[in-house]
Amino acid sequence: MKKIILLVVLNLSITVFGQGNTFTQKAGKFEGMAMTPPMGWNSWNTFETNIDEKLVKETADIMVSSGMAAAGYTYIVLDDGWMTKERDANGDLVPDPVKFPNGMKALIDYVHSKGLKFGLYNCAGTQTCAGYPGTRGYEYQDARFYAKLGIDFLKYDWCNTQGITAKEAYTTMSNALKTAEKPIVFSLCEWGDNQPWEWGKPVGNLWRISGDIYPCFDCEFKHEIGNWSSWGVMKIAEMRKDIRKFSGPDHWNDFDMMEVGNGMTKAEDKTHFTLWSMLASPLIAGNDFRKMSKETLAILTNKELIAVNQDKLGVQGFKYTVEDGVEVWVKPLTDGNWAITFLNRTDVVKKINFDWKKHIIKDIDFGYEADFSKTVFKIKDLWKNKDAGNTKKNFVAELASHDVITVRLTP
Ligand code: GLA
Repeated sequence: MKKIILLVVLNLSITVFGQGNTFTQKAGKFEGMAMTPPMGWNSWNTFETNIDEKLVKETADIMVSSGMAAAGYTYIVLDDGWMTKERDANGDLVPDPVKFPNGMKALIDYVHSKGLKFGLYNCAGTQTCAGYPGTRGYEYQDARFYAKLGIDFLKYDWCNTQGITAKEAYTTMSNALKTAEKPIVFSLCEWGDNQPWEWGKPVGNLWRISGDIYPCFDCEFKHEIGNWSSWGVMKIAEMRKDIRKFSGPDHWNDFDMMEVGNGMTKAEDKTHFTLWSMLASPLIAGNDFRKMSKETLAILTNKELIAVNQDKLGVQGFKYTVEDGVEVWVKPLTDGNWAITFLNRTDVVKKINFDWKKHIIKDIDFGYEADFSKTVFKIKDLWKNKDAGNTKKNFVAELASHDVITVRLTP
């Protein structure tokens, strides 16, 4: 009997003290925090580490006054660069007092007072990607720090993580957050290197599936320092095959923060936003709201596209076919609806003449099917916000280079 008790005690101690390197860890994220893809803003794409209190307050103000909040954008996430280079004497993280002269808590309270939510960033490694203190070895302490601040979202990156395994590192942080008892969205950012879609569901609410995005339509941007690339919109959209079945309510494939308004053409911005909507990706804007054009705002707040992204079914769309350089992307929606996107991948204007009746769209991962010879669907053009007949007739249109037409089909 004594022996048995001793074994039980031993086993418990391994579970509790062996965080990070034991298989006895069981993940248990806060459930139900992201039943539709999270929407918000993140500082990194435009500002990198040049962030401060003024920027955050102005961004929060505009999020509300521009109608973005009403359209669904909720989270303001401060990415890398919000801390000082050293922890304090207690080992706590220190928000940079020059960038945030009134302290982080006051800023978070301000964002909350606007009806918005607030997120921060850190890394699983010893340092963040930009060289600020990482969380390794401080998981439970940092989780308590975040809970005390009352943050609602944590993006957790993967730099300087030599010698640790992703599943364990993210599980440890997930458990630390849970233990700190402040419900939070946990955003895994390990770039898809360790297949987070295979183990991330009990750990976090979303996971990056690629390296960093770059504001171009279809390029690879090779960085001069370090052996890595950032990726254009089409590259990221097509990077991972066969992982859509791993995405769904509360566990999303994350195609990275958006570059809408950051230098691509209007057509390309439209296409970018459309794809992220079709792919049920989190919609995290990455532009400077203070300089946002009317066109950019109109793209980011297109209610019909947002409804496609936020559809309760939570199914990630896919590329169904390509006809003469025009790709057809499809996404099953609730009530037997479908979103269909015609995407002109080429450099010239294309004529579309799509005979619905010749197509049976089959979603082999989730079992949805649209057979246009059997069912007639009403068509609504989501960028023009106009009815466009039904699927008895061919869909005929002209499509500019790199542009999209997206329609909702209703049976
Ligand atoms: C990585 C992430 C980016 C950003 C930077 C910050 O590259 O993938 O999204 O958070 O780190 O340093």
